[in-house]
Amino acid sequence: MRSHYCGQVNEQLVDERVELSGWVNRRRDHGGVIFVDLRDREGLLQVVFDPDDPAVFARAEELRNEWVLRVVGRVRRRPEGTENPDLASGQVEVLAEELEIVNKAETPPFPLDDESVSEENRLRYRYMDLRRPEMQQRLRMRARITRRLRNYLDDHGFMDIETPVLTKATPEGARDYLVPSRTHGGKFFSLPQSPQLFKQLLMASGFDRYYQIVRCFRDEDLRADRQPEFTQLDIETSFLDEHQIMDLMESMIRDVFAHVLEVGLPEAFPRMTYAEAMRRFGSDRPDMRIPLELVDLADVMADVDFKVFAGPARDPEGRVAALRLPGGAELSRKAIDDYTHFVGIYGARGLAWVKVNERAAGREGLQSPILKFLPDEVIVEILDRTDARDGDILFFGADKADVVNEALGALRVKLGHDHDLVKHGWEPLWVVDFPMFEWDAEEKRWASLHHPFTSPREEDIELLESDPAACRSRAYDLVLNGTEVGGGSMRIYRAEVQQHVFSILGIGEAEAEEKFGFLLRALRYGCPPHGGLAFGLDRLVMLMTGASSIREVMAFPKTQAATCLLTDAPAEVEPRHLRELSIRLRKPAGEGGA
Ligand code: AMO
Ligand code: AMP
Repeated sequence: MRSHYCGQVNEQLVDERVELSGWVNRRRDHGGVIFVDLRDREGLLQVVFDPDDPAVFARAEELRNEWVLRVVGRVRRRPEGTENPDLASGQVEVLAEELEIVNKAETPPFPLDDESVSEENRLRYRYMDLRRPEMQQRLRMRARITRRLRNYLDDHGFMDIETPVLTKATPEGARDYLVPSRTHGGKFFSLPQSPQLFKQLLMASGFDRYYQIVRCFRDEDLRADRQPEFTQLDIETSFLDEHQIMDLMESMIRDVFAHVLEVGLPEAFPRMTYAEAMRRFGSDRPDMRIPLELVDLADVMADVDFKVFAGPARDPEGRVAALRLPGGAELSRKAIDDYTHFVGIYGARGLAWVKVNERAAGREGLQSPILKFLPDEVIVEILDRTDARDGDILFFGADKADVVNEALGALRVKLGHDHDLVKHGWEPLWVVDFPMFEWDAEEKRWASLHHPFTSPREEDIELLESDPAACRSRAYDLVLNGTEVGGGSMRIYRAEVQQHVFSILGIGEAEAEEKFGFLLRALRYGCPPHGGLAFGLDRLVMLMTGASSIREVMAFPKTQAATCLLTDAPAEVEPRHLRELSIRLRKPAGEGGA
């Protein structure tokens, strides 16, 4: 039903007859002439209905927004002065000769060009929302990105292999989505949090280089960059070490940026240890566009007369650090209070500060609620270490190290945005040498920082037993402008080491056998050294399109409450289905759920 897309009609087609199919974006009546902006996937085109053709004109008078039309007409140049430089087709218009109303539409639930529509409405009527050019462009870019990634991987010897969706739990740190089995009453499949174990098995099978663009499912707290089902570009290789893997992945990311965005990323992405990232930025995914850094002060504060500082300074698990904001001495009391409230969200119990009005004037040149607690030599040392200049403000965090890191790490990002300090452009960074384990205070046991299949560093293997906290892994994350876009590791490929790591994680032999017996057996039948990673495809596309959330780059995302407003999922099911599945709800549906 078309010879051209609307957005592709231009000067080169002047005097030609074109056949178009699309939606009425807008109708305007202008002194006897009707203009319709016809819209399709490729853009808008102005169609003119002239009263000289009364039959067609009469039909055009009926047209409403979002009706579906077929139009045949002749392309002509727009009269001088009426061109629209914002449209690809803006030099021309089509004089309609035939008009078919293919389908009518009810009044849309919201005007497509209304920027203020609530996200709830957008998700409920997602098929309308997706008609907006912005959404069309984002999904189109997503398709171009995945195509480029696939091409790259195909060209580099990777094979696309599918893995099961109905499977057993894969621990990636979230809750599983479960699917009850009808044929095995009382038993459940888990939806994969990632294809981690299957891709390792594929390496055991000798496929050498695997990839898959694959849906993963995680029942966890949702945020702007987290969805319950999301897409990974999942990759695994054999006989490469972490440096080779990172090099290869870097070159893939450079390739996709070069071809899709025409952006040249650095020839080598910087690499930074986890320890350095935490020390300097309070985060394992530092946004390197922001030129603010944490400065350690524990040694200086250990003996001051201010318990708030001295306590954490002496605590081996504590941290005292400062963050300098250039020009921040201008901040109002209210602004400082707001920042104090902000760090409170991350558990900080306060936000001490010092304004440096005139450094040369010593104590007199400073302004701060904590000055009275600090001796002169401590003040001098703080100003030296933070390289404080006149007009700056210093913020302080003192607490358990993880609280200080979270609070000042987040404050650093907020200050960067609030004070326009975020550099323009792209700052990729590999974070490496993650710890193997973190202490789970609630469960009182060690947990994997990455996942339990991550290999310890060879030189740290002895620490597995003696000092798990100090044991580093062969894991790496790719961070882009402060977002973790990918993560992976070299894997354990020897059964004894795997069993050892399980035991540190409190997974006994019987449980290991029950949960991961298939993996342990595969490791015993000649498994090559292997490693890989997974990119969060939604996150990568979000960054590349400049979108503010991954929901903006997914066709049919879920809400923050993990529901689908479009289909009203999740939904109740018939009692008959539950019976078949051997499931009885604790409370009947409608009385507060299961
Ligand atoms: P990880 O758990 O780090 O690693 O996940 C890999 C990447 O997936 C993205 N991601 C998410 N994106 C949207 N919504 C979510 N809920 C979500 N969770 C994670 C992130 C993250 O970097 N099997 C390992 C990879 C490996 O070791 O090869 C894994 O899944 O961008
Ligand atoms: P106070 O003596 O409790 O009034 O605290 C003096 C200053 O120290 C205030 O500016 C508080 O915001 C700040 N403060 C209190 N606890 C902490 C903390 N744990 N870390 C950083 N600053 C703090």
